[in-house]
Amino acid sequence: MKKTVPDLVRSEDKLVMVTAYDYPGALSAERAGVDMILVGDSLGNVVLGLESTAQVTLDDMIHHARAVRRGAPATFLVVDMPFGSFQTGVTDAARSAVRLVKETGADAVKLEGGEEVLEITAHLTRFGIPVMGHVGLRPQTASAQGGLKVQGKTVEGARMVLEGARAAERAGAFAVVLEAIPNRLAALVTERLRVPTIGIGAGPHCRGQVLVYHDLLGLYEGDEKKLAKRYAELGRDGREAITAFAQEVRAGVFPTPEHGFLINSDVLRRLQE
Ligand code: KIV
Ligand code: NA
Repeated sequence: MKKTVPDLVRSEDKLVMVTAYDYPGALSAERAGVDMILVGDSLGNVVLGLESTAQVTLDDMIHHARAVRRGAPATFLVVDMPFGSFQTGVTDAARSAVRLVKETGADAVKLEGGEEVLEITAHLTRFGIPVMGHVGLRPQTASAQGGLKVQGKTVEGARMVLEGARAAERAGAFAVVLEAIPNRLAALVTERLRVPTIGIGAGPHCRGQVLVYHDLLGLYEGDEKKLAKRYAELGRDGREAITAFAQEVRAGVFPTPEHGFLINSDVLRRLQE
């Protein structure tokens, strides 16, 4: 059964979220029984090969989220509002969020930012579009935060994280992602909020955890990230499989006749007459 917003907010169990960007990833996530799937704008980095998530468009998000929805019809689906889809005003943000919900079947949208997205969050939630907040490291504007670095290590920085999370909750967000902040700050934020915190690089005290599909499956060889754990080495396995395929084709080992199809010998004889 697909979870609802109240189910997620009230859950006593740890919440599990994983990103997905296509149909097979969504199938795996749904069959694994995660609570939520996120079509993250990490799409830009891990799937499209872009430098920054800031280059991902609303149309990119819609294209991929539609495929994810087909693979996971019964899982709570969150879709990132990409950079540029909400900064130009509340009306534009609402138009973007409505497109995401209508065109993809998303159950919620996620918005990076603190106090500055309060009004947008309030507007969307007032009209029944659930919003997940996202504070701490915010990759869309990472350059302004000094790069892809841990946030909230100073009094001022930590206060911004806490106030940003509180602003999201006050504005109606049903959950808040905490990205790359110290464990004890994440614990404090989690304690101060009524809605669940979903951590990535935020320690064990959050009410939920999220990982990027490619990180947890080890799809990029050598790309170890402190904040992620690799539960598989699919990058290595994939490379080895393709190498084996290439060797077998070159050696005439694959395909054997069993991989092909039979033809009636009469047909063949008639053809050769
Ligand atoms: O885009 C993304 O994958 C995210 C998660 C890391 C929370 O925003
Ligand atoms: Na994101």
